[in-house]
Amino acid sequence: MSSDVSNSISNSDSSNSVDYVRIYDTTLRDGEQTPGVTLTPEDKLLIAIQLDKLGVDVIEAGFPIVSQGEKEAVKMIVKQGLNSEISVLARTDKRDIDAAIDCGVRYVHTFIATSDIHLQYKLKISREEAIRKAVDAIEYCKAHGLYVEFSAEDATRSDREYLKQVYKAVVDAGADRIDVPDTVGYATPKYIHSLITELRSTVKVPISIHCHDDFGLAVANSIAAIEAGAECAHVTINGLGERAGNASLEEFVMALHCLYNKRTRINTKLLYETSKLVASLTGIIVQPNKAIVGENAFGHESGIHTHGVLSNPLCYEPISPELVGRKRWLEAGKHAGMHGIAAMLAEYGIRPEQEQLRQIVAKVKELGDKGKQVTDADLIAIASQVMNQQNLVEHVRLMDFVVTTGINVVPTASVRLIIDGKEYIVAETGVGPVDAALKAIQKITDRIASIRLSEFRLEAISGGSDALAEVSVKVEDSNGKISSARATGEDIVVASVQAMINGINKMMMKRTIDRDSNREIQGYTV
Ligand code: KIV
Ligand code: ZN
Repeated sequence: MSSDVSNSISNSDSSNSVDYVRIYDTTLRDGEQTPGVTLTPEDKLLIAIQLDKLGVDVIEAGFPIVSQGEKEAVKMIVKQGLNSEISVLARTDKRDIDAAIDCGVRYVHTFIATSDIHLQYKLKISREEAIRKAVDAIEYCKAHGLYVEFSAEDATRSDREYLKQVYKAVVDAGADRIDVPDTVGYATPKYIHSLITELRSTVKVPISIHCHDDFGLAVANSIAAIEAGAECAHVTINGLGERAGNASLEEFVMALHCLYNKRTRINTKLLYETSKLVASLTGIIVQPNKAIVGENAFGHESGIHTHGVLSNPLCYEPISPELVGRKRWLEAGKHAGMHGIAAMLAEYGIRPEQEQLRQIVAKVKELGDKGKQVTDADLIAIASQVMNQQNLVEHVRLMDFVVTTGINVVPTASVRLIIDGKEYIVAETGVGPVDAALKAIQKITDRIASIRLSEFRLEAISGGSDALAEVSVKVEDSNGKISSARATGEDIVVASVQAMINGINKMMMKRTIDRDSNREIQGYTV
């Protein structure tokens, strides 16, 4: 049986809903409103190019009125000539719309709040005045030949009859589409379903949904809207956005494809790399247990699960990781079982006897009971000890390294490594001494095996300025294979470098085994 989408189930109540769902990505606008995130125009362009490659229908590139840099970013994105449509945000204000026009966009998303809370306390205008402003803005956009999507901000807390009046008025004024924002994530799927159903019989333009995640319901609410006949959803990569964020693109799209039998233009195999790019440029790391793109989404630790997955991945994986550009991985820990540990060791070419395996598993559990995460390097060390063998071939040997850091200097590292007998010396800069040193190492190992650091954790395990630091790393190669390692020491930079070299050595070991077994297979076939 294949481990691809096990989709005999369709949860879709398809009577009202569309088959094709339009994906309106607002990572570069609502996503950038995540506290702590500011992107340079160059960063925004990189993300826009990736979103286009991913296949989103619309990229909301920014909010041009907010700054010169924002305008510059939108102009750069427009000039790129991407396949995705490019829209921008504007209040129902001529200055905002002029700023949008100035950037060369043809698509404007304009909004005004319609809930009494916003009208009374934020805008301090009457309901009638808000309608007038909305209608004026739509007429102004249409007079300038723009395609317009209109949002009634805080729609879900607005008076239903008044909200319908607003949407009717903007559609009469020429709005091409309407959007329904659940601005503070206050709605339930049932409420969204009934609201969209009612709006569909009120206006005859396509309806979008825009959900925030304050109660963790953004994806469920977006799906409820699609079920009720909305044909587009505003989403962001990694669920970035104001406060708790927006509906996450990757969760929404995978649920639509796998559980609701809907289509989008998204190339799902690019979801993970897109998530990684956005995380690295925004500095907002993805929680490990996040669906689809979190580090643990396809990781298995317990013996029962690893056994099941090794027998047939469908036992504990609803979709195959490759579908979203991932690889499954196993981890040793206190719940470990014989099958999982044997499979992990086999990846490194280590095949213990049954009794040895039993002892290795017992030692892994002992470490786990002490609250220790068991890295691949720990596992190999345990196996070497139990089997009385020296399994570790040191492909990469650290000869020496020097770092300079301080105030008013760019942190720089110079590293000398011997890899399989050949010497390499490289210097690199970074945001700090650890970054500089690890980048220098990666610059060398990149030439050999494109191995990159995928996770870095630093923990102080004693107090004081001479505290012992424990550094755990995960490294990943271009095929998505992962190896983990750790090092401990008083010097954070030295411990980081040693952990990295340790992880790279484990990865090289894995790759050698793969290469040799491929050779064997090829030899056999010929
Ligand atoms: O959440 C919201 O209401 C918005 C509007 C600008 C559409 O982001
Ligand atoms: Zn929003």
